[in-house]
Amino acid sequence: MNMKEHFSALLHQRRSIRKYQENPLSEEMVKELLKAPLMAPTSKRCMSWEFIAVQDAELREKLAACRAANSAFAAKAPLVVVIAADTEKTDVWVEDASIAAAYLQLQAEAMGLGSCWVQIRNRQSSEEQSSEDYVRELLQIPSQYAVLCLIAIGEKQEEKPGFDDARIKWEKLHYDRF
Ligand SMILES: Cc1cc2nc3c(=O)[nH]c(=O)nc-3n(C[C@H](O)[C@H](O)[C@H](O)COP(=O)(O)O)c2cc1C
Repeated sequence: MNMKEHFSALLHQRRSIRKYQENPLSEEMVKELLKAPLMAPTSKRCMSWEFIAVQDAELREKLAACRAANSAFAAKAPLVVVIAADTEKTDVWVEDASIAAAYLQLQAEAMGLGSCWVQIRNRQSSEEQSSEDYVRELLQIPSQYAVLCLIAIGEKQEEKPGFDDARIKWEKLHYDRF
C-alpha cells in the first residue's frame, strides 16, 4: 500500500472504541502515541496545548466520574489523555486542542489501539461543578488552562465495522456557493 491508501484505510477503520483490554500500554507506546499531537499544527505555532497522560488506576477511575453520563467507560482504559490548553496564549485554543485530539485518535488507530473522546468543555460533573473544574481540581491544572476533553485509549475489546462509503453525506459538500 502507498501512503494515500494507508491513510484512507486509517480514516475508514477508526471508530470510537469504548471497551478496552485491561493490560497497561508500554512506556514506548505511550510516548509514540503522544508524539503525534505534539506534531499537530497550532495557530502561530503557539502550541497552546498541554497533555496529561494518566495511567494511575485511582486517578483514571476519578477522571471517568467527571460527567453524570457518557464518561464512565474511560475508567477501564489503561491510558486516559487529558487535553488542556492555555487560554491566555491564544483565542483559538479550542481549535489547537481539537486538532491535537484528532491526531492522537488517528495515531492510536494506526497503532491498532482503540480510542474515544470524552467531552469536558461545556459539560457538568454535577449541578454545582463543571467537568472542567472537576478535572482541574483532580489533576492540579492551573486555572488559566481550559480542559477540552479526555481521550481514552487501550487495546480494543470490541469490534466495530469500518466506515462505509455509502454513509458519506455528499449533500454536505458544496461547490462555489452554499
Ligand atoms: C467533540 C466530540 C465530543 C464527543 N464526546 C463524547 C463523549 O463525551 N462520550 C462519548 O462516549 N463519545 C463522545 N464522542 C464520540 C462520538 O460519539 C463519536 O465520534 C460519534 O458517535 C461517531 O462515531 P465514530 O467515532 O465511531 O465514527 C465525541 C466526539 C467528538 C468529536
